[in-house]
Amino acid sequence: MYEENTRYTQQFDRDGEPICNRSNNPCFSSILNSRLQRRQVLRGTLAAAITSMFAGSILNGLKARPANASTPMLGFKAVPISEADSIVVPQGYTARVLIPWGEPISGSFPSYSLKNTGAEQGMQVGQHHDGMHFFPIEGKSPYEGSSIDGLLVVNHEYVEPRYTHAAAVGQALGPDDFPMKEDGTRDTDQVLKEMNGHGVSITRISRQSGGSWKVVRDPRNRRITALTPMEIRGPVRGSDLIKTKYSPDGTRTRGTINNCAHGVTPWNTYLTCEENWARYFLNNDEDVPRDHERYGVSTDGTSRYGWELADNKADEYIRFGASASGASATEDYRNEPNTFGWVVEIDPFNPKSTPVKHTYLGRFAHEGVVFQPPVEGQPIVCYSGDDARFEYIYKYVSAQPYNQATASGALLDDGTLYVARFNEDGTGKWLALKFGENGLTPENGFQDQADVLVNTRTAADFVCATKMDRPEWGAIDPRNGNVYFTLTNNSNREPDQVDVANPRPKNDWGHIIRWSESGKNPTATSFKWDIFVLSGPEDDSRKLSGRPLNADNIFANPDGLWFDADARLWIQTDIGESSQNQGEFAQFGNNQMLAADTDTGEIRRFLTGPIGQEITGVVTTPDQRTMFINVQHPGATTSEEEFAAGKINSRWPNKNPEIYPRSATVVITKDDGGVIGT
Ligand code: FEO
Ligand code: CA
Ligand code: CA
Repeated sequence: MYEENTRYTQQFDRDGEPICNRSNNPCFSSILNSRLQRRQVLRGTLAAAITSMFAGSILNGLKARPANASTPMLGFKAVPISEADSIVVPQGYTARVLIPWGEPISGSFPSYSLKNTGAEQGMQVGQHHDGMHFFPIEGKSPYEGSSIDGLLVVNHEYVEPRYTHAAAVGQALGPDDFPMKEDGTRDTDQVLKEMNGHGVSITRISRQSGGSWKVVRDPRNRRITALTPMEIRGPVRGSDLIKTKYSPDGTRTRGTINNCAHGVTPWNTYLTCEENWARYFLNNDEDVPRDHERYGVSTDGTSRYGWELADNKADEYIRFGASASGASATEDYRNEPNTFGWVVEIDPFNPKSTPVKHTYLGRFAHEGVVFQPPVEGQPIVCYSGDDARFEYIYKYVSAQPYNQATASGALLDDGTLYVARFNEDGTGKWLALKFGENGLTPENGFQDQADVLVNTRTAADFVCATKMDRPEWGAIDPRNGNVYFTLTNNSNREPDQVDVANPRPKNDWGHIIRWSESGKNPTATSFKWDIFVLSGPEDDSRKLSGRPLNADNIFANPDGLWFDADARLWIQTDIGESSQNQGEFAQFGNNQMLAADTDTGEIRRFLTGPIGQEITGVVTTPDQRTMFINVQHPGATTSEEEFAAGKINSRWPNKNPEIYPRSATVVITKDDGGVIGT
């Protein structure tokens, strides 16, 4: 149970992330009678869960090999780990940079410069590229159509102020630090530039002869930012919990932030997911409500970027001071954070469309959304992970059936949100977060469905879901609907907190879990699961899995995950900045991307990235002959002192000592024009 309006002491883990889930999940203690008994069970079931990994599969129907059956699943030679400040791809492949941060795409097309204004950033590609999709230009299907012309839609997760402002030069600033004025305020145009560096870019691109791609000036090119007006739909629309000065009827909000991974709907729209939005807000009141506390809203000092300190004191900036008194001492912005933490739908083909926050998909640190292939006449089903330590994996099932001719975002506004419990015996259960069911009642502190959704994490605690090791991306095998999720790490899991789905104490390395819904029915409320791979050092993985990783595939901290049309599983890594190439993490080198054959369990390293970055976001054109990936935050491992001295440890991609490192999309082609990965 939660305690409402109780001042709490914010706790942080070693990566600076707030630790929010301190619930005891009392059901767990009642599942097993004693810790001793629990350990005995774990020992047996852990072996069962892991030995099944490479024995074909416990999951049914993995035999079909689709379209390109005559070509090998993994036909490239693995690349070695790397500490170089460059992209390395296998022999026979070429990698080229496209749309780095600051690339002009709309308006007056201002060229990239450190001196760009906030308004100019709003006409350029944003910073810190993450999830993305290539929409063929015909606009009829997310996966069919042109492979030479389309809209590339890219998330921009966050910004690095020290690389953003000329005023930062020479100051000792770390990746999250920002220049302040002597009077304790922030320059408003700097704040605007950071807010316009967030959000989503929609850019028309076309393939040129020779395999390179270029930006096309097109009326659909668009920036969505931390200021773009958005509509709120689903059960939370109109709730008292989201009524604000900006939207007194609780139907609208401004902007989307910390857009991590993404989703693509069966009706050809883009979903962008709000992940670590909570620290962008500051509530330094004595009493902090659960809808702030359980998510890690900042409680001391400034918010993550201090936007509430903008020196013009305009409402769109000071709202990030979400205290009872607000940053202006005259306003109450406490409901502003409740308009964040959602999944946002964008129609990339209609530049005048208003993005929609769909509240039925829950409010948490959404990593991404992945859909089961739609079946005519059946509900649509999608999954989303809450990327924080000890948080949960969710599934949404629509109330209305899918109909190709009429399908729209309305399917996301009426249904059931479930949260996963992974049982010790390799089965699992989806627990409905439905008001009035599973104890989600007024007696237990939930007033209506809107309350359940604004407080999704608290509701999931209450129904005793399984606390996971940071759920990141999900991916669905196109042959059989089996679902894979990365669990990137959880260094805070104590030995007495392990369970079979999260089997390692102090899980520094991460793993990938997978499940098959009962009866192959995506709407089922039960499933069977196992662990696909435990990543980490060769010795550690050998000990637990019986099949070691080796020089061709050793990796840690899986994050991005995507099945291509041939069912090749692409795995991307995100070793944190504080660990990259340090201590035991040195053996993994720079962050990388690998490809897996899930039939055989073979995994092979395909790409290594430059210094300080993570590889994230992956998609191909429909013909699979062009792949797009993103390099995010190159140079983020530069220390405060190095930054002050101008010793930036990456100059990717420009390779110019005058230009800071810039996140960018990378286009990968095979020199013989073949399918990527074969
Ligand atoms: Fe933004 Fe969980 O990675
Ligand atoms: Ca991620
Ligand atoms: Ca990550």
